[in-house]
Amino acid sequence: MIVFVTRPVPQAALQLLRDGGLDVRLRLDESPIPRPDLLEGAAQADALLCMLTDRVDAEVMDAGALRVISNVAVGVDNIDLAAAKARGIPVTNTPGALTDATADMTLALLLAVARRVPEGDAMVRRGEFNGWGPMMMLGADLRGHTLGIVGPGRIGKAVAERARAFGLEILVAARQDHPDVGPRAPLDELLQRSDFVSLHCPLTPQTHHLLDARRLGLMKPSAFLVNTARGPVIDEGALVQALRSGAIAGAALDVYEREPAVHPGLLDLSNVVLAPHTGSATHRTRTAMATMAARDIVSISQGRAPQHRVA
Ligand code: DGY
Repeated sequence: MIVFVTRPVPQAALQLLRDGGLDVRLRLDESPIPRPDLLEGAAQADALLCMLTDRVDAEVMDAGALRVISNVAVGVDNIDLAAAKARGIPVTNTPGALTDATADMTLALLLAVARRVPEGDAMVRRGEFNGWGPMMMLGADLRGHTLGIVGPGRIGKAVAERARAFGLEILVAARQDHPDVGPRAPLDELLQRSDFVSLHCPLTPQTHHLLDARRLGLMKPSAFLVNTARGPVIDEGALVQALRSGAIAGAALDVYEREPAVHPGLLDLSNVVLAPHTGSATHRTRTAMATMAARDIVSISQGRAPQHRVA
């Protein structure tokens, strides 16, 4: 079985594929794969080890005779699941592997925007720090405030666990009750009541622009929005407006609507913290994600069911 790997991943995953007797065709370029190269790679492979930056649609699936598509990500919005299902191609992902790293990053971003860490860093580097000031660079407290978690799945739950240690009260917006995470509120009510809102839902047609101008308008002017899920869950243009007008106090983003492009309006705002989709970017987590994805390819090559099949 030939496995096409669209970008370099940790060695342990490549070794696992080779130890499973598979022929690994690794694209050595670190940048996102150009479309023609993806089509060509898929045409010659039985298995695709792909990234969230690869759009895997019917054209890719029909380029050759793929027997499995294994995404090195928990989010699978880059893959046309219906097309895969129609063709009987199993799709797998990496649930659980990035929960802690992403939850840690969520708290890092929340704290960074609440306490204005990048602003302070920039000020010091500009040589403008002239000593401690009683009114200098004041931020927001966490203890006693409310964190609204939109989508209390694995990552949302891990964020709630960490947030409780900072004294935040938790509210959740979800279809079902999650008593282990926090009391449930309808999304509009959660937005009205929360001091921090953190997004942890998958990107689906239902969650596209879930945070639009109307919903952003429900948030408190003192509230902060954090997104480590997927960019298109927020209408980025509406967010820029909300931040500019003071409808909300700030935002911390790890993901963008048209990634890797970032709305130019966000770049000019000092009440925004911007990260380059690094929520899962730790050595251990990326190794765990890639080996998890590789293991499912090996399973399929050996006639066993994959552990993390999504379609
Ligand atoms: C995922 O796995 O979906 C994450 O976005 C990767 O960081």
